[in-house]
Amino acid sequence: MLAVIGSCNIDLLFQLDRVPEPGETRIARSFSRHHGGKGANQAVAARRAGAEVRLIAQLGQDDAGELLYQALAAEGIDLCGVQRSPLPTGSACILLEDSGENRITIYPGANRDRLPHDLETQLRDTAFVLAQLEIDPELVLHAAQICRAKRIPFVLNASPVQDLSAELLSLTDLLVVNAQEAAQILGQALDPGSALDAAKALARARMGAVITLGEHGLVWASGNEAARLPAYPVAVTDSTGCGDAFAGVLLASLAAGASLSASAQRANAAAALTATVIGAQDALPRKTDIEQFLASHSPRTED
Ligand code: RIB
Ligand code: NA
Repeated sequence: MLAVIGSCNIDLLFQLDRVPEPGETRIARSFSRHHGGKGANQAVAARRAGAEVRLIAQLGQDDAGELLYQALAAEGIDLCGVQRSPLPTGSACILLEDSGENRITIYPGANRDRLPHDLETQLRDTAFVLAQLEIDPELVLHAAQICRAKRIPFVLNASPVQDLSAELLSLTDLLVVNAQEAAQILGQALDPGSALDAAKALARARMGAVITLGEHGLVWASGNEAARLPAYPVAVTDSTGCGDAFAGVLLASLAAGASLSASAQRANAAAALTATVIGAQDALPRKTDIEQFLASHSPRTED
């Protein structure tokens, strides 16, 4: 069993040629609603990849909360750690430009309500715990403290990075971040060339670290090992949820006993597949999709 502690959102996705300038109004080409939130996305990604997953999260007592709850239940995710708050279900506004670039604003609502969670019970029988930072940072810290005390590996996707504390970082066994997040944590600029050294620096004093680099693939480091994996060349429709596909599938694979190297490879394929479909949860691949993709594609070669 793997536990994911994190957010659930309704994503409002607008596709448009370019985002408006300050004071400007622009007309979007398409609008759609999707199921999102980093916690829910990562739980669904791990579940579809074959893991037993428990989600610890907070939804509103509104229609959106009901919709998300039913969809998560239909995935076969254990929802005994999901609580209903009087605050509205979280929501995200995603502006997706034709350039492929997206900009996201989140209203956390119920995700950041401070409902009492019985984390000791909810984390009792878990092999790994995976968290992000869209929920109350205190709850994430509490989960990390329980994990340290019980020797459960605590994996943090430090996104959004603005709420990362030094204490939480010190309790993190495996850190999964993108290039901007890594740069912010290390306090230095990072490019694809320097990313491997950055991953080694982030992996110091913990089990490991992974930095995802979008079209440049990813780097990972653990102990004396470190490597770069190129991205798969795919036609990118919507990169929303790619980081979540990566984290969820990485964890599902680690929980199944695979190495960090093999798990990163699998997660890399899942992230590529997610970029080809619009929406976050709608785009997350199943185990068979990942396996077929791995069998028939090779990563981009970089010089
Ligand atoms: O990582 C993508 C997710 O971030 C979206 O689903 C959105 O809800 C935001 O939380
Ligand atoms: Na997508």
